[in-house]
Amino acid sequence: MIGNDIVDLALAQKESNWKRKGFLDKIFTKNEQLQISNAENSEVMVWNLWSMKEAAYKIYNRQTQIRGYYPLQLECFYLEIINGIAFGKVVIKESVYYTKTEVTSQFINTIAVENSKDFDKIKTLENRNNIKKNNGIPSYFENETFGSKPVSISHHGRFEQIISV
Ligand SMILES: CC(C)(COP(=O)(O)OP(=O)(O)OC[C@H]1O[C@@H](n2cnc3c(N)ncnc32)[C@H](O)[C@@H]1OP(=O)(O)O)[C@@H](O)C(=O)NCCC(=O)NCCS
Repeated sequence: MIGNDIVDLALAQKESNWKRKGFLDKIFTKNEQLQISNAENSEVMVWNLWSMKEAAYKIYNRQTQIRGYYPLQLECFYLEIINGIAFGKVVIKESVYYTKTEVTSQFINTIAVENSKDFDKIKTLENRNNIKKNNGIPSYFENETFGSKPVSISHHGRFEQIISV
């Protein structure tokens, strides 16, 4: 199972004022707000944690079909940073999803998986050929075998990413 999310930092800055009253309290737990206030760049940390939650939500929603907006139930934890890539996890109820987040000056991109071994199996797809959605959730359909694989799509501003496993 996979999920992804991409944030165009220029668009996020233009469209969303994360400093407005109540914004952080609605989306981030107390621990996450501490991470934001302690971060070298708080704005980047806001979108970093946001993208972790959105990527994990895409797996959770696929698995449970529970749709909705419940950002405080998706809690982010940081594990380590290796070569500039942040590895973390997102916990919701009894589920744990592992995340890998790339932060650049232009975008933030998180990939979430159920099993951390799947990070090595992620493939990027160049287009939407053979992708069909069921209940809004995309999958890749093989012509020959009639099998299907989970796909996750994210687009924001100048960026789009389509991944499969
Ligand atoms: C559905 C949702 C995840 C889409 O995220 P988004 O950042 O608005 O948009 P993205 O570009 O990243 O993702 C859109 C793609 O996700 C896919 N998608 C839509 N609903 C989905 C779902 N429920 N599960 C998995 N994938 C989904 C679609 O392929 C869609 O792309 P397309 O319409 O071009 O085919 C988001 O709107 C949402 O409902 N989030 C709720 C989780 C939450 O509480 N978030 C709070 C902020 S952290």
